[in-house]
Formats: sequence, structure tokens, C-alpha cells
Amino acid sequence: MGQGRFITFEGIDGCGKTTQLRILAEALRTAGREVVETVEPGGTETGRQIRKILLDPANTAIHPRTELLLYFASRAQNVEEVIRPAIHAGKLVLCDRFTDSTLAYQGAGRGLDSETVHDLDRVACRGLKPDRTVLIDIDIETSMARAKKRNQRTGPDESRIDAEGAAFHTSVRQRYLELAADESGRFVVIDGRAPVETVAERILEALAADV
Ligand code: TYD
Repeated sequence: MGQGRFITFEGIDGCGKTTQLRILAEALRTAGREVVETVEPGGTETGRQIRKILLDPANTAIHPRTELLLYFASRAQNVEEVIRPAIHAGKLVLCDRFTDSTLAYQGAGRGLDSETVHDLDRVACRGLKPDRTVLIDIDIETSMARAKKRNQRTGPDESRIDAEGAAFHTSVRQRYLELAADESGRFVVIDGRAPVETVAERILEALAADV
């Protein structure tokens, strides 16, 4: 049995983390590792229902504290139902976003204080912390250009958070970089503007000792 591990992927919208998470999961499965992929918000049936409320652009009345509690409600369910059992079974869990997203988006983006976010994290995750976190960093112009391209391809699909402006996303990115600097042992920061294959190689290299 492998050793249970918990690795999260973070970054602003359009950074490519979802693609990179899939590439890593496939590479590790090919190498014989048991991998569980999950996502926040979502990852469980309950979480998917909460996700719909959170991302629906029609929900203009959601208060920032309500939003915060809903993200943690989804996370509590994911931790209990998917993440912790998989880690205990010796699997490698790859999670698309986790509490660092809340610190960046609700903390820096919405201006909620990080102590409140940490308090809720203790309630929802009961001490579970990622072993490693991959932060895929891109600048705001690249993020916006990729969102525009995606909308041209698939039609407008902006979620409530995607619709926020450049200032919001700039403070989210800034907070991510601060979090990474504060916990440089847990975070690996990868330049997301490089070609997909190059980013994938760098991630695999950086995580070699952990996967
Ligand atoms: P998603 O469509 O998954 O975006 P992405 O593909 O960029 O990950 O939507 C998730 C959105 O929710 C994203 O805009 C970030 C936001 N979010 C928060 O604001 N707080 C959180 O705690 C989490 C997990 C996500």
C-alpha cells in the first residue's frame, strides 16, 4: 500500500490547474499509484449542490459571510466523505482548490479577515492540511485573455466569481503569492505561462519526493 498523501492545486482563474491536475493524475496512475481526484467546491453530491448555489450568477444577494460558510460546508463534506478516507487507505488525493482558495478569494478578494477563515477551517477540516500545494501563477492579463478565449469557444459561462474585475483578481493573486512565501515548504510556485507540457514536467519534478 502506498502512503496516503494530500496535494492541492491553486491559482487564479485560467491558470491551467485543472488541466495540470489531470495530467499529473494520469502520469501517476500509469506509474501504478492509486490516485483520487476531487474538486472544491464540489467533489461530493452534497458539494455539487452547494457549488450550483455558489457559482450561479443569478444569486446576486449572497452575502460574503454566507458565501464563506457555503465554501466550507462543501469542504467539510468532501473531507469526511472523500479526502480523509482515501488518505487513510494509502491513496494519493489531488484536490482542485482547498482552503488557500478561501484565504485568497474570500480573504483578499472579499475582504474577510483571515482569522475567521482559519477558525472555519478548523471546524470544517478538523486539522487536515495539504502535504504539498502547487500554485500555478499567471498574471492578470493572461488570466483575462484565457477567460475571453474560453467564452468565445464555449459561449459566455462566467460564474459569479469570474465576473469580478481585474482589481479583485489582482488581490487574489497577490494573496496567493504571500501565502506561498509564508509556507515555502508546503508550496511550490510554477509559472503557468509556459507550455502545458513544460508546466507538467516542472510539477512532476517538484513533487517527485511526495508522490
Ligand atoms: P471553477 O469553475 O471551478 O473555477 P476554476 O476552474 O478557476 O477553479 O469555480 C470555482 C470558483 O470558486 C473560482 O472562481 C474560485 C471560487 N472559490 C472561492 O471563491 N473560494 C473557495 O474557497 C473556492 C474553493 C473557490
